[in-house]
Amino acid sequence: MYGPEFAADPGRVYSYLRRWGPLAPVELAPGVPATLVVGYDAALQVLRDPATFVKDAREWQKGVPADCPVLPMMMYRPNCRNTDGEVHARLRAAVTDSLARIDLNALRGHVERTADTLISGFRGRGAADLVTEYARALPLMVFNELFGCPPDIGDRLVEGMSGIFDTVDAKKANQVLRQAVRDLVALKRREPGADMTSWLMAHPVRLTDEEVMHQVVTLQGAGTEPEQNLIANGLRLLLSDDRFAGDLSGGSLPVEDALDEVLWTDPPLANFAITYPVRDVDFAGVLLPRNQPVVISLAGANTDPSLASDQRVGNRAHLAWSAGPHICPAQGQARLIATVAIEQLLDALPDMELAVPADRLVWRPGPFHRALTGLPVSFPAVSVPEGALVPSAGTAGAVDGRESTGPAVPVAPLVRATARATHVAASDAPRGPWNSLVKWWHGE
Ligand code: HEM
Repeated sequence: MYGPEFAADPGRVYSYLRRWGPLAPVELAPGVPATLVVGYDAALQVLRDPATFVKDAREWQKGVPADCPVLPMMMYRPNCRNTDGEVHARLRAAVTDSLARIDLNALRGHVERTADTLISGFRGRGAADLVTEYARALPLMVFNELFGCPPDIGDRLVEGMSGIFDTVDAKKANQVLRQAVRDLVALKRREPGADMTSWLMAHPVRLTDEEVMHQVVTLQGAGTEPEQNLIANGLRLLLSDDRFAGDLSGGSLPVEDALDEVLWTDPPLANFAITYPVRDVDFAGVLLPRNQPVVISLAGANTDPSLASDQRVGNRAHLAWSAGPHICPAQGQARLIATVAIEQLLDALPDMELAVPADRLVWRPGPFHRALTGLPVSFPAVSVPEGALVPSAGTAGAVDGRESTGPAVPVAPLVRATARATHVAASDAPRGPWNSLVKWWHGE
């Protein structure tokens, strides 16, 4: 499950693995054996049996070399992802209660403004890479705001987290990540604010600084990498699939439905929920050795041919958020951010088209994620009317609805004042499939 062949066409690998049944032997990295669960029912059975399949990796990692490329992703950290039972319940309470303090209306507004800022950076050019210039940058900026994180620390957090997902020089990436989060926690001890980091610190379960650091890493990792992939994979689908851009008589599907489809077919975390059997387990005739990773292929399980229906629109029984006690606690926020990010882009650049054929897009290596390297698009260049840019206040709306007392959000210095921009190119030029989608979007 490493190398460019897997990254280019993981679906082919899952189909091949199904010859073994719902569970198949794989290597996560050279010499790192695991079992991959590609059956939907088997995946649920594992995820709902936390007494047998635990998340604590410490026994497994005793036999793993320190330079193993998947170690930083899989190694035990005292966070809610890697713990079990009461310890997990305590950490998860701090995380879910802090997430619950996020005002979704304020979050929506912040995502809108962040999206506008990013779009104004490239819309005059007529071309952009939506991964590097939009899908990657937007969750970073939003989560820097959510965590009260100044730009220099935020950049280092993302640099570290991306390196860990790519499993290239993951050891160095891990060091970068640790130092960045240590700096953030120290900053918030000195200057608490209306942000997730400060809320975690103030939670009644009384997390230690070390525990806060580990929850922040988990939350930041979850909030940037998979979010970027959900936005990018959603845009790729919208830009390349006729069902989402056909004419109205053919029936176009809304952004929410495109996201449902992506969560079934290209979930951002493709193989992620990693568990370790507490003893040798005979699972439907397959021996699962004690402490050897059992990885749920969320993508493989979602595309299990034995699922009764492939009707995906409006069907949210997919496993993209996992299941059981470790199910993603931020589904609402994650969906909202992706939906608003895509809507803002649709609104601003209605004639956008892919600049290369969809099958020439390249996917990043790594067994865990489904992540594009780039998403080049072209569109009629759009100018910003004179005087339409105003200086940003920096704190572009605190996430709990109050003014943030933390450092300024790292938005670019200018935000758009007008709702819509002026098209430089003739707007009645030949229109791509994207345009039909936008017409649908506006109810035309
Ligand atoms: C598109 C975006 C996202 C996807 C696809 C996603 C998916 C997942 C999945 C599959 C898990 C289970 C992991 C496991 O069992 O090892 C998970 C757990 C988690 N997610 Fe998300 N997530 C997303 C966004 C977010 C966001 C925005 C946050 C928070 C800011 C977040 C916070 C967490 C946390 C804390 C856990 C661990 C929960 C636990 O183990 O109790 N996620 N997520």
